[in-house]
Amino acid sequence: MSAPTYILAIESSCDDTAAAVLLDRKVLSNVVARQEIHEEFGGVVPELASRAHQQNIVPVIDVAIKKAGITKEQLSAIAFTQGPGLMGSLLVGSSFAKSMALALNIPLVAVHHMHAHVLAHFIDEEGYDKPEFPFLAMTISGGHTQIIKVKSFFDMEIIGETTDDAVGEAFDKSAKILGLPYPGGPLIDKFAKDGNPKAYQFTKPKVDGLDFSFSGLKTQILYFIQKNLKENPNFIEENKADICASIQHIIIQILMDKIKMAVEQTGIKQIAIGGGVSANSGIRTTLKETEQKYGWKTFIPKFEYTTDNAAMIGIVGYHKFLEKHFSDASTVSKARIEF
Ligand code: KG4
Ligand code: ZN
Repeated sequence: MSAPTYILAIESSCDDTAAAVLLDRKVLSNVVARQEIHEEFGGVVPELASRAHQQNIVPVIDVAIKKAGITKEQLSAIAFTQGPGLMGSLLVGSSFAKSMALALNIPLVAVHHMHAHVLAHFIDEEGYDKPEFPFLAMTISGGHTQIIKVKSFFDMEIIGETTDDAVGEAFDKSAKILGLPYPGGPLIDKFAKDGNPKAYQFTKPKVDGLDFSFSGLKTQILYFIQKNLKENPNFIEENKADICASIQHIIIQILMDKIKMAVEQTGIKQIAIGGGVSANSGIRTTLKETEQKYGWKTFIPKFEYTTDNAAMIGIVGYHKFLEKHFSDASTVSKARIEF
């Protein structure tokens, strides 16, 4: 038996400051400090995000280590998000990770944020089956919409992606049109639960192959709302649930069409979802139904591993650690980073 591996993972790519401690594939602690400051601005303000990371990072890491019930001297390595993300935010996490690894004289592991959303499924959780390679992953977040053929831990191929907005942006921008605060995705989900998904019809964009487009849908929704507000100034308030349910419905249809096409093209019937939008209850239910309907096997992460978190950084860190795939103090953060 090999010695137990304790990984401290740090995620600070956008507006959440997160730290987790893993013992091998098991999560001992998973702490996230969400930044509410962005709500009033209708989106993430990069300068405010990096300042808040600076305030949060020490207490968040401290709590993660304490909750894990270990001391920092027991850590085997430190994993951190190298990118993609907001530069100022990434720098806070990477600088902290580098200094701490140096002080403790332990290895440093740089992690790709999107690999982490894909590989979050390999965290040990009771009663949760792990996908087998190859599988298809659909990463749906505020910054990405991708269909990925995952051949092994570190061999992944993007076979479809958005040509403009990410699906999370489609949710957030639609919510903004409805006057809802940022991030609006969870609110659309909440209101949609009481609405009729077929109340209003929106059209799907025509995009070739496995790629996506969401910017046209946003414009369609904007015109639809403007037109109805002219006729009835209370249109949004009176029909909020139906509007949200209809928006969510069309977004789910767009995603499902492409994932069905990906299954046809690759013959792979194991589908894993990841990223903040995979918290959406409509998407989770629709995907689960495909197990009965089409004989697919689906992998839907626990809520805490869908939106940005450090446990997912930790599981990638663990697998890289096993392969001795280390970084050093010269590793640079990257706002954009190859897959
Ligand atoms: O992965 P994530 O936390 O951060 C990025 O890397 O982007 O994803 C955030 C996105 C936001 O657009 C947010 O509105 C969306 O995930 N989101 C949801 C839900 N929960 C989070 N969208 C729809 N329904 C939800 N329940
Ligand atoms: Zn993310």
